[in-house]
Amino acid sequence: MSTDQTLTFMRHPAPNPVTADVRAGLLRDPGFGRIFTDHMATIRWTQDRGWHDAQIRAREPITLDPAAAVLHYGQEIFEGLKAYTRGDGSIALFRPDQNARRFQASAARMAMPELPESLFLQAVDELVKIDAAWIPGDDGSLYLRPFMFASEPFLGVRPSYEYLFIVIASSVGSYFKGGAKAVTVWLSDRYTRAAEGGTGAVKCGGNYAASLLAQAEAIKHGCDQVVFLDAAQHRWVEELGGMNVFFVFDDGSMLTPPLSGTILPGITRDSIITLARREGRTVREERYAIDQWRADAASGKLREAFACGTAAVVSAIGKIKSAEGEFKIGDGEGGPVTAAIKAKLVGIQRGDVADADGWVRKIG
Ligand code: PLP
Ligand code: COI
Repeated sequence: MSTDQTLTFMRHPAPNPVTADVRAGLLRDPGFGRIFTDHMATIRWTQDRGWHDAQIRAREPITLDPAAAVLHYGQEIFEGLKAYTRGDGSIALFRPDQNARRFQASAARMAMPELPESLFLQAVDELVKIDAAWIPGDDGSLYLRPFMFASEPFLGVRPSYEYLFIVIASSVGSYFKGGAKAVTVWLSDRYTRAAEGGTGAVKCGGNYAASLLAQAEAIKHGCDQVVFLDAAQHRWVEELGGMNVFFVFDDGSMLTPPLSGTILPGITRDSIITLARREGRTVREERYAIDQWRADAASGKLREAFACGTAAVVSAIGKIKSAEGEFKIGDGEGGPVTAAIKAKLVGIQRGDVADADGWVRKIG
């Protein structure tokens, strides 16, 4: 696997970028995934030329042949990472090498070419540099969305011979409308997200397409996110539609479902395991049954639960609803362990807490 290829990005700055005044207005309350910056990074791949034609250019609609394979067979993968402004004014990414590697793993599973890590990082860096003014203040950040899809016009069912890799950027605040308030999750007993041998462990668009009906059900029931159980027994807690999940018990220990091949190996999940273990906490990567979750919440053995991911950061789970009724965790408001883990993680990302593992990559 090549990790060292570099390309020169041709720069074509946007001829009509958003004015500073308009941008300031947009950044006041950006929400999540609605505000986009002036530019994008693009790289093409063809079977005969490999990776080529790297550009930083105006973010604009792309033309696509209606026969492009992605529109028919969904050959598409993506990533999500954030650029932060730190206390000292510098801009940094959090563990972007891990996103580059997961992007390669996603590509391999979806029979797509693997983008060298160096090109992934170069594209992200160049885009953040040109659109740095779009990073919101306070606890906002620039959410980067690298993605790649099959662009070859061809209706035969086989891996495409042409792909387009793009990075776009979105100025974001909190993922959940309620900000830091504990979220309510909907337990889906009808739909599953991923089965063994499928694509649950990679970040392909199809996983999210398959989750939308359950997510719509969650919203209908007044919930923020959906919790999926395993496809074989409908018993084991897997993850949320777009986040991993942790449980905190009365003895201070933590548990998170194992990387069984059907859940996404979250970079936030991995970072939290590392940080919690270093503090002396026991963290088990073990299966957790939904009945146990209910029983532990009722007995008080389960003190806290939280969702984690790049978009959601660390979000306390206060309540679970399902067709069988609902139950609360603790007082339903989140707890001190969740808050402390969030503070540590965000502290490292923002430069307020020492980065013992070299996770932060400064830009520029
Ligand atoms: N699980 C799913 C299904 C996700 O979409 C995400 C978000 O990327 C995560 C977990 C968390 O992954 P990460 O912490 O790498 O953002
Ligand atoms: C992320 O946290 O980056 C995600 O991909 C979750 C969701 C926005 C799809």
